[in-house]
Amino acid sequence: MQTPSGRRIFEMYKTKIDLPETVRFKVIELLNQRVAECIDLTLQAKQAHWNVKGPEFRSLHKLFDTIAEGSQKSSDALAERLVQLGGLAQGTVEAVNDRSDLPAYPLSITDGADHLDALGNSIAASSKWMRESIGITADWKDYGTSDLLLKSSQKLDQYLWMVEAHLQGKLRELKAMEKEEKPLQERQLKSASGG
Ligand SMILES: [Fe+2]
Repeated sequence: MQTPSGRRIFEMYKTKIDLPETVRFKVIELLNQRVAECIDLTLQAKQAHWNVKGPEFRSLHKLFDTIAEGSQKSSDALAERLVQLGGLAQGTVEAVNDRSDLPAYPLSITDGADHLDALGNSIAASSKWMRESIGITADWKDYGTSDLLLKSSQKLDQYLWMVEAHLQGKLRELKAMEKEEKPLQERQLKSASGG
């Protein structure tokens, strides 16, 4: 059997769950998509966790691991849900590479701000599709899946807040440094001109 996008899927398992098979078929495909994005995000956060460098190493190293762990838990919950509906979870590297549309994570970056920016972009993309899926599955009356997606979506919002809070703090620091530097430069200019 194939999905409209041409991806080969396996026969659905028989189950006594009362959701119609047509609904379960669509939900399984949608959940496999979200699972792939969660796994991709987990690996991207690990990439950041391992490679981040700079003065904020400790807090960022921990933050990126928190995001990796949370995203891994989301993929686990969503994959198990789609199996409960009679589907087959597709979580291999090949399946994730085929399905995930998250931005490709740059392999060469090490600076904390660069990792925050890159990971923020991926969290925001994942969050958008997760939020859209809450409404879609509710429209299909699969409220159990909708509720799981809601929880994952709330987690993603929380991670984006944590990532952006670091960047916003950084911007404030830079602005404060600029303010401190300006009077000094003005003083230097005055003394150079003999004023
Ligand atoms: Fe670690």
